[in-house]
Parts: sequence; structure tokens; C-alpha cells
Amino acid sequence: MDIMNLLPEDRFAQVDDLLAFISIYDDDNRTHAFLQLLEDNAEDIRGKVCVELGTGIGLLSEKLAQLGARKVYAVEVNPFLFQIAQKRLSRYKNVELIQADARDFVPPEPVHTLVHEFYGQLLYDEELYILDQLPWKPAVVLPDGGKLAAGLMDIEEFDDPVVNADFMQQLSGVLVSGLFDEEDVPLDFDVVEFRYGKPFPLKMRKDISVYQGNLLYFGLKVMHQGKEICQAGICSNWSYVWTWRAGNIFEIEFVSGARAPEVLFQWID
Ligand SMILES: C[S@@+](CC[C@H](N)C(=O)[O-])C[C@H]1O[C@@H](n2cnc3c(N)ncnc32)[C@H](O)[C@@H]1O
Repeated sequence: MDIMNLLPEDRFAQVDDLLAFISIYDDDNRTHAFLQLLEDNAEDIRGKVCVELGTGIGLLSEKLAQLGARKVYAVEVNPFLFQIAQKRLSRYKNVELIQADARDFVPPEPVHTLVHEFYGQLLYDEELYILDQLPWKPAVVLPDGGKLAAGLMDIEEFDDPVVNADFMQQLSGVLVSGLFDEEDVPLDFDVVEFRYGKPFPLKMRKDISVYQGNLLYFGLKVMHQGKEICQAGICSNWSYVWTWRAGNIFEIEFVSGARAPEVLFQWID
């Protein structure tokens, strides 16, 4: 979806965000996986003070209320999503919806459980970094981890007359999401892991010399307590990210960006 008319910059950014969220809620596997995660951890919700950072249209905060949270602070920065969430959540007396940037929100009481869905296609390229900078500490974070995993295959397997080896070589050093609509592509090895409370390595190198294949791809795994909740391809909200293999060692770095970390990628050898 593209906005076709000229709008003031602020209005464009807000509406663009709003439209981006349509695809999130098209992904029933993602929604189901997160609601299930909350049900599986109901003992950390019932009777507890909970926060959802980035509540979107309020589905997860509604679930927190239904699971018997004593209080839910639902924080959303986008004014349109905030208004939609307001309609959904106003019937729950124990839910307080706050229009704020998660980075500025300081809960007025100790928080037991923090819920979020801040995962980028490349794990740390959206709002996950906010969790590492919170001035307050919840006892439990749902979900508490994630992985950027990867694999290699031969582009010839796709038998695509246009996006073939010649085409991909032009994209050397470029990471492209959603280039192929593959759903069942194995993620063979981990590149980097996020675990709430542990330092996240902002720069890492990976040696892939033991793997065969001329096409390198990355895929997100959402994890909790070491167990997979959702992954790229299965939850369509996250697509695989593809690039031509131009070496045996690559480096990925997350550097600070205007809204979220930007990704640097290069082949070292
Ligand atoms: C991927 S959506 C998840 C929505 C909801 N948690 C869910 O899982 O259905 C991320 C949400 O976080 C919001 N968001 C992003 N950055 C934020 C920030 N800095 N402060 C508050 N909300 C933010 C977005 O507007 C969006 O609604």
C-alpha cells in the first residue's frame, strides 16, 4: 500500500505507520502465537500489574485484562492506533491507555509483566532496543528473546527466469526482504541472539565457509524462555531477507538511526 497524494510530513508518517499495521493484523499466526504466549503465562498476569509497550489496536492489552491483570498500562505512540485501541479497551476498568512514546513512559508503580512485540525483520532493526534502555525493570518480559537465524541455498532451486544468479549478483552486499515468497525455508544456524537483560552485541561476524549455497537468507525467530514462539515465513509479518553470497565471512552491525537501529552489512572475506 502506498499513499498517493502529497501530505504534510508528520501526517504522512503517522498514516504510513497506520497502514503498515494492516499487514501485521493480517498475520493470524502472529496474533495467535502472542495470545497463546499470554495464556501460557497467565500466572504472571492474573492479579499483576502489566504494561504493554506499543499496544497497536490493543489486542494484547485486552487479553491481559481478560486474563485478570490487576492493572494494565497500554502505551501507544501512534495517534490513530491509539484511538482505535481506545474503543477496544475503554470497557476494561483496569486498563489505562496512554498515548506516549515508550521511551518516555515511566510506570507509576512497580510492574510485574511487560508485554511487547517490537521485533524487526532483522531482529534489532525496529524497537527492541527500547527494552535495553528502560529506566524501570519488570520482573517478567513476554516474550523475552529472539534470534536472527540464517541459511544458504542455491538460487537455481527457484528456477526463476528473472531473479536468477545474474540478477542476484547485481545485489551483492544488499539485503532484500520479501524477494522470494518462500514459506518453508530452513533456518540452519543462528547469527545473533537477543535475551532481555543480557547485553546485545551490536556488531557480529559470521563464518559460513562450512555451508553450501550461493544465496544467503536471514529469518527472525521470536523466542520465549528459549522456546520458539513464531518465525519468519510461518508468521507472514516477518519475511526472509535475501542476499547474494559474495564470500565466506560477513559482518552485520546495528547503528543508531532516526527511529530505530539501521543495519550495516558487508562481506569481510
Ligand atoms: C508490531 S506492532 C505490535 C502491536 C501490538 N503489540 C500487537 O502485538 O498486536 C508495534 C506497535 O508499537 C508501536 N510503537 C512503535 N514504537 C513505539 C514507541 N517508541 N512508543 C510507543 N509505541 C510504539 C507501533 O505504533 C505499533 O502499534
